[in-house]
Amino acid sequence: MSLALRQFTKAPSSLGCSSSLSSSSPLLRHAATQPTIARTTTMTAKRHLSAYGYEQTKALAFTQYGEPKDVLKLHSHSIPPASKDLVTLRFLASPINPADINQIQGVYPSRPTFSTTLGAPEPTAVGGNEGVAEVLSVGGNVKNFSRGDWVVMRLPGFGTWRTHAQTTVENLVRITDKTDLSPVQVGTASINPCTAYRMLLDFVSPNPDKNDWFIQNGANSGVGRAAIQLGKLWGYKSINIIRARADEAETERTKNELLALGADIVITDAEAQSREFRSQVAEWTNGGREKVRLALNCVGGPLVNSMAKILADSSRVVTYGAMSRKPVSVPASLQIFKDIGFDGFWVSRWAEAHPEQKAKTLEHVLQLTREKKFVDVPVSETRWDYETKGETLIEAVQGTLDGFRHGKGVFVFGNT
Ligand SMILES: NC(=O)c1ccc[n+]([C@@H]2O[C@H](COP(=O)([O-])OP(=O)(O)OC[C@H]3O[C@@H](n4cnc5c(N)ncnc54)[C@H](OP(=O)(O)O)[C@@H]3O)[C@@H](O)[C@H]2O)c1
Repeated sequence: MSLALRQFTKAPSSLGCSSSLSSSSPLLRHAATQPTIARTTTMTAKRHLSAYGYEQTKALAFTQYGEPKDVLKLHSHSIPPASKDLVTLRFLASPINPADINQIQGVYPSRPTFSTTLGAPEPTAVGGNEGVAEVLSVGGNVKNFSRGDWVVMRLPGFGTWRTHAQTTVENLVRITDKTDLSPVQVGTASINPCTAYRMLLDFVSPNPDKNDWFIQNGANSGVGRAAIQLGKLWGYKSINIIRARADEAETERTKNELLALGADIVITDAEAQSREFRSQVAEWTNGGREKVRLALNCVGGPLVNSMAKILADSSRVVTYGAMSRKPVSVPASLQIFKDIGFDGFWVSRWAEAHPEQKAKTLEHVLQLTREKKFVDVPVSETRWDYETKGETLIEAVQGTLDGFRHGKGVFVFGNT
C-alpha cells in the first residue's frame, strides 16, 4: 500500500427591467494554492450605462431545468438607478459549485428563483448561489450599507452568475472588514469553508489532548481542503481519501498538496478499501489509543463503510454530498453495537436556522484567511467582461461536471 504519511505536529429577489436573450474556450487561469488577487474595487471601473443612467447588465440565466449547456443563456437587461430601499450591486467573484449545477438540472432541493423581473418573456432564474458583490449605489432609505461595501448573499437562490443585481438589504450580509482579502477569497468563503467548520464542531468535539482524528472522503474538494485546515487548527488529526488519478505522479502531487495544507494521512479510495486499511489505521493512531471520532462523507457508496468501520464507538458519520451518486448503506452492527450515528448536514438549512452564527462563522473564516491560517481552494478563473461571450461562460459551467479538475471554477468579473 503506497501511503502518503506526514509527520504529525501538534497544533492546537433581485429586480430589473428591459432585456434580450442570446446564447454564445473559457479563459482559464489556474491559481495553484495561492488565491489570485483580482480587482478589489469597481469604483474606478468603466460602467455601461444607458442615456437614462440604467446599468447595462448580463446574467447567465435559464427558463427550464436541464444540462447547463442546453438551458443556460446569456441574458442582457438593464437596471434602473437604485431608489428607496434598493441597492445596486456589481459582482466581483462568483464560484461554480457542484450544487449550482444540480440546481440547474432541477435535482437540488433548494430551487432557484424564477421571476419575470429580468424583463424576459418567461419566468427566468439566474444561476449561481455564492459570490461577492460590491455596492454601486443605494436608495435613499438604505441604512448601514454604502457605496464600495462588499456583500455576500444571505441565503442560496439569489443567482450570482450575473454582472449586476438590484435587491434589498435583507438578502445581503455586509463584509465588515475586507482588508487584505481578495474577491475570490470572500466569494468562496460562505459555503464550503462554513460547511467544513460546522461539521467539524457541531457533531463531535475534538479533544486535542487526546489526539482525536477525523476521516473524510472527497478530501481534495473545497469542503475537504477547508476541513483539513480547520481540523488542524482545532487539534484534529486527519485521514484523507482522494480518488486515484490516471497518472500516479498526479496522484502523488494531489496527496502532497493536501499534506502541505495540514493533512496527516492522504490515501486513495482503493487504499481505504484494501484489507490492510484497518491495521494501517491502528499504526497511525498509536495502536488505536487515539480515536477516530468523525467521518465526513461527500462521495457515498461502499467507501463509507470502510470509513465507518474504523471509527471509535459512539462516533458520527456526517454525509453532506453524494458525488458518486451511490447510496450509503449502513451496516446494522455499527449502529447497534458500536453506537455509530449517521447524520446529514446541509449548510443552507443550518444558515436559515442560525443566521447570526452563520455570519460569525463566515467572519471567523475570513479572519483566519487574513491571518494566512486558512488558504483558499485552487481556482480556475473565467474572466467575465462586458463583451465576454455566453459560450465562454457556459463552457466554464459545464466543465464543472468533469471530475479530476485542477481548480474550482470561479467567474471573476472584470470590466462589466
Ligand atoms: N451539504 C452541504 O451543505 C454542502 C455544502 C457544500 C458542498 N456540498 C457538497 O460537497 C461536495 C463537494 O463540494 P465542493 O464544492 O467542495 O466540491 P469541488 O471543490 O467542486 O470538488 C468536487 C469534489 O468531488 C469529487 N468528485 C467528483 N466526481 C466524483 C465522483 N464521481 N466520485 C467521487 N468523487 C467525485 C472530486 O474529486 P476528484 O478531484 O477526484 O474529481 C472533488 O473532490 C459536493 O457534493 C457538494 O454538493 C455540500
